[in-house]
Amino acid sequence: MLVLKTIDELRQQITDWRNSRLEIACVLTMGNLHSGHLSLVDKAKQVSDKIVVTIFVNPTQFVRGEDFESYPRTLDTDMEKLQALDVDLLFCPDVSEIYPSGGESQICVEVPSHLENIYCGKSRPGHFTGVATVVTKLFNIVQPDIAVFGEKDYQQLLVIKQLVKDLCFPVEIISMPTVREANGLAMSSRNTYLDEQETVIAATIHDVLEKIAAEIRSGSDNYKKLVQQGKKTLTRAGLKTDYLDVADAETLGEPGDGDLVVLVAAVIGKARLIDNVTIRR
Ligand code: PAF
Repeated sequence: MLVLKTIDELRQQITDWRNSRLEIACVLTMGNLHSGHLSLVDKAKQVSDKIVVTIFVNPTQFVRGEDFESYPRTLDTDMEKLQALDVDLLFCPDVSEIYPSGGESQICVEVPSHLENIYCGKSRPGHFTGVATVVTKLFNIVQPDIAVFGEKDYQQLLVIKQLVKDLCFPVEIISMPTVREANGLAMSSRNTYLDEQETVIAATIHDVLEKIAAEIRSGSDNYKKLVQQGKKTLTRAGLKTDYLDVADAETLGEPGDGDLVVLVAAVIGKARLIDNVTIRR
């Protein structure tokens, strides 16, 4: 596996592959890789000739006071995992390589308010601008044909799909289902913040989502009541709900006759955890 830190080196390799007419798939990550990430890499391998994984803890998507400094950085073990999966290239740039003008004084990609000001965007102002900006940069740098993202970050996935459409990126976005621990907890790099007891409690998040989804599938459309009950269950278990809601799966607007998504963010200890389930109709 090639491990590169600069855009120039990466571009040379990408040009060689492009000249040989090889298709390139990428998986963008912030590292601390778990089985969820590795499922994205597996998918990328199935659909393309060359796989590029990026590891970059992006400062601009962390809100002031969040865990940018303490975010788990585990490059050596991440490299072993990627090597074992035969990844062709790992790009792990420094912050100054991606933000040469500094984070604050550079051009960034604005996310429309219907996606930026709700759910995770509402609790983490500027987060999706940071995500959209770094994904744009990484797409411009890697120039992938395909990019694979996880469905756990549901709102992020919608932002990225719209980004690709609106900014005319010739990149196909493939999404993969959330990978879970045996108790149902969605895999996340932030699960490393949980102790044993918190890990047990955090499984309630998925239980609540599944219960709401089951009620809806069996005909209930009293979403307000389902959400209220769900919030009570989370509180009783010891979780602080940031949001829990039922929304249209395509737009995150009011739920109608189309596919639905039940979304949640909840805090326990040092970890803010997000999860979702979709209901196809
Ligand atoms: O999902 C993530 O890990 C990040 O938000 C991403 C897409 C790599 C951008 O920094």
